[in-house]
Amino acid sequence: MTLRAFVIGHPIAHSRSPLIHGTWLAAYNIDGSYEPIDVEPTALQAFLARLRGGEFVGGNVTIPLKEPVFALCDSVDPLARTIGAVNTLVATGTQVRGFNTDYMGFLGNLDQQAPGWSDGLDTAIVLGAGGASRAVLVALRERGVKTIHLLNRTLEKAVELATALGPSVRAGSLAAFPGVAPEAGLVVNTTAVGMHGSAFPELPLALLPRTALVTDIVYVPLVTPLLAEARALGLRTVDGLGMLLHQAVPGFEAWFGVRPQVTDDLRRRVEATLGQ
Ligand code: ATR
Repeated sequence: MTLRAFVIGHPIAHSRSPLIHGTWLAAYNIDGSYEPIDVEPTALQAFLARLRGGEFVGGNVTIPLKEPVFALCDSVDPLARTIGAVNTLVATGTQVRGFNTDYMGFLGNLDQQAPGWSDGLDTAIVLGAGGASRAVLVALRERGVKTIHLLNRTLEKAVELATALGPSVRAGSLAAFPGVAPEAGLVVNTTAVGMHGSAFPELPLALLPRTALVTDIVYVPLVTPLLAEARALGLRTVDGLGMLLHQAVPGFEAWFGVRPQVTDDLRRRVEATLGQ
């Protein structure tokens, strides 16, 4: 019997997930499928009934369903609960369990591209306090980063998130960057700034230690203005495409029983679609 998985969202046409999972299904010779399905928020409950009915082994959930799906799961993994969003569903019998694999994607990407990045890392800067920021903060906290400066254009949102995540996360505005940069071993951009060539107007990366690593979760373009500036200064950089690839690993393993590898070939295939 063909094992069927899906990605649901609205719209869904531009999702790269079918390419990622389709590549793995072929590479591991698995009798499975992974289909993009357009589901509007009002149709989400009915879709979950299909999942409980055994039509699918599970799937991914993307914008704008990551928050609404949370309440509709029969159980939610504790880390997804902390992050406040579900991006992966696994059907077991008539039950649907929700997970968030974005934090594993973030860690998997850095572990592959910058091995040892978290060894002795005491202080990090996270830019942005939206949905994607939560997964990054939870990941850094889990790796034992002692101080995380959460800097956001709107200070109140950073304060709210820092309060929810505990004392290792300290809120500030973007203007606080120069004051905290000299101590920071890592800078993560979780905002949409960088897409379509946009840039942070005032972020003096030159104040970072020479050994600092700069990473962006934006992957269109692959080299964002932030990463380009960091590279020009001789800092280490990791682009955001690997996070997309690595967040797909735990879902594939849960649905199809094989832990897939993020290979250079997979990366090249997905990279080839970025200009489209
Ligand atoms: P997501 O869930 O994908 O993280 P989001 O919840 O809309 O998206 O969050 C967007 C983040 O990008 C926020 O931190 C936002 O800052 P504000 O809280 O001040 O809105 C940040 N952001 C978006 N555009 C920005 C810009 N031009 N300059 C600085 N920060 C920006």
